Amino acid sequence: MKVLVATEKPFAKAAVDGIREIVEKAGHQLALLEKYTDVSEFYQAVADADALIVRSDKVTQQVVDAAKQLKIVVRAGAGFDNLDLAACTARGIVAMNTPGQNSNAVAELALGMMVYLARNTFKPGTGSELKGKKIGIHAYGHVGKLVAGIAKGFNMDVYAFDPFVPADKMKAEGVTPVGTVEELYKTCHYVSLHIPANEQTKKSIGYDLLSKMPKGGCLINTARKEVINEEEMVKVMEEREDLKYGTDIAPDNAEVMAEKFGKRFFATPKKMGAETAEANINAGLASATQIVKFFADGDTTFQVNK
Ligand code: 3PG
Repeated sequence: MKVLVATEKPFAKAAVDGIREIVEKAGHQLALLEKYTDVSEFYQAVADADALIVRSDKVTQQVVDAAKQLKIVVRAGAGFDNLDLAACTARGIVAMNTPGQNSNAVAELALGMMVYLARNTFKPGTGSELKGKKIGIHAYGHVGKLVAGIAKGFNMDVYAFDPFVPADKMKAEGVTPVGTVEELYKTCHYVSLHIPANEQTKKSIGYDLLSKMPKGGCLINTARKEVINEEEMVKVMEEREDLKYGTDIAPDNAEVMAEKFGKRFFATPKKMGAETAEANINAGLASATQIVKFFADGDTTFQVNK
């Protein structure tokens, strides 16, 4: 079988070497398409692939149409909003993610951005400390749980909202569950976003929630830009000169926000939450292993289009 790794933003070399070893040891062949600049290169490369590994690369209807042999696609990472699941399902292509594999890298970045904004983006001036502040974890999944653990190391008071996680589980982990999303934003100085981008969540974080944050409130987004209502974010940050926003995914209006809000706003130039050697290796190797198991015995653990 031919396994294509198509990554506009390539994995670390150690991850690619590890993927190659797993794929070739199982008797398959590895093809690489890295740093492609035109989607036509992707269409061409995927034409004879039986399996595909991607990161945030968009697997659209066109990609599926071009991939005549494709049986499985693995998104090496958590969020699979870049996969057209309906197109995959219609063709009988199994789609998977690798949950948890790159979470620690994202969690560390979330806390790093909190410190960066609390210290005025490392520009001169008096900042503040994380110690003693309330942090709200918006969705207590793999990343949220790790953020909670690191935040405790900073002596922060940890709260979380997640309707899919039992309150007892959070309590057992030293986290205070809150019953509504409004309460989370009202209570916490820092909110760390870990919700997926889907039809229910798109543009769901806007004026109503952000205006509830206590004085000095700071939102950290290492999830997806689509969940933010950008117009409302600008409005609330204009009205509330104490609010801050740090994001790993530059908003569409990044230039406007940078100009308007200066040290109160920070966006990474390119999504870098999962950009560590460790995260690349964990997610890359997990993807290769999942593909090998799928071809060996039909294992569909981690399938997201069941
Ligand atoms: C994820 O959903 O796993 C992260 O957003 C990482 O995305 P990336 O592989 O493009 O860095």
